[in-house]
Amino acid sequence: MGGGTLPLVLTGLGVLLLYRILTRLRSRGSVQGVVVVITGASSGLGKECAKVFHAAGARLVLCGRDAGRLQQVVQELTASTSAKEKQVFPPSTVVFDLAKTDTIGKAAEEILKCYGHVDVLINNAGISYRGNILDTHISVQREVMETNYFGPISLTQALLPSMVHRRSGHIVVISSVQGKIAIPYRSAYAASKHATQAFFDCLRAEMEQYGIPVTVISPGYIQTNLSVNAVTGDGSKYGVLDKTTAAGQKPKDVAHAVLEAVCQRSSDVLLAGPLPSLAVYLRTLWPALFFKLMSSRARKEQKVK
Ligand SMILES: NC(=O)c1ccc[n+]([C@@H]2O[C@H](COP(=O)([O-])OP(=O)(O)OC[C@H]3O[C@@H](n4cnc5c(N)ncnc54)[C@H](OP(=O)(O)O)[C@@H]3O)[C@@H](O)[C@H]2O)c1
Repeated sequence: MGGGTLPLVLTGLGVLLLYRILTRLRSRGSVQGVVVVITGASSGLGKECAKVFHAAGARLVLCGRDAGRLQQVVQELTASTSAKEKQVFPPSTVVFDLAKTDTIGKAAEEILKCYGHVDVLINNAGISYRGNILDTHISVQREVMETNYFGPISLTQALLPSMVHRRSGHIVVISSVQGKIAIPYRSAYAASKHATQAFFDCLRAEMEQYGIPVTVISPGYIQTNLSVNAVTGDGSKYGVLDKTTAAGQKPKDVAHAVLEAVCQRSSDVLLAGPLPSLAVYLRTLWPALFFKLMSSRARKEQKVK
């Protein structure tokens, strides 16, 4: 490298870094008083998001299938001391089943009635699946798709017209690393999350002209009951807390990352350790090696079973 080139490169990198820091600072928003809808707020990541957004002063609409469990979350939030420093609002709740897509229009009306509009929709609810394709009934593939894909896209489509009308709003979806790579014995789940990624990527492009950002968040394993609540090939509950899930990220940390992504209006956020992140790049840059690794993983898991 010639004598004048190195300082030039370093100056260029410095300017780039400064630009990134400045754009981050400029786009840092706040959720104080903002109307935030969270699906799957009764447990796991959704419940942690409820805590974090409530403490940050958001006006919450919490959604789930079980009215009693949602009320319990509301009571916990109202009693929480950490929220007392800021102006906080008592959360509202709307009960509906995302897998029953014909009821979602009515649920969206109820959601809109809470505060008259929605600023941020966080599509968080979901179920997982464990099983091999040979033994999995097609109704199970559909069930996972209804909850993880058709439910969130129906709710999003039902709330979007009011956002477009106001030229304001923000759509967030909790996908998964498995929305970017498919691993064996997770077909229904990986397929539903790949579909989710594709739908919300299209939506992002279509909504830019209305000033409505779309954020896809793809976490790796999180310490929740997702694997316990997963369905198997015959539709029964898996009921096991997998080691990978138990050793995953803390839901509180992921919830803070969701808040940050909302404040920064990020487009696509991968929240995973070095290995899953490497696998995502491998799938694109060296697919043959990725497929070999997945086949070997499938054989190993088959042996264990
Ligand atoms: N845990 C992980 O390792 C992990 C990793 C990557 C991504 N994720 C994603 O994170 C999101 C949250 O999952 P979690 O880990 O917090 O699992 P979780 O503890 O099992 O929570 C799932 C939530 O979804 C709700 N839900 C399930 N089926 C529903 C339906 N048909 N209609 C309405 N709500 C429904 C549940 O509410 P009720 O049962 O009370 O109705 C529950 O609140 C999911 O989208 C999941 O795919 C999780």
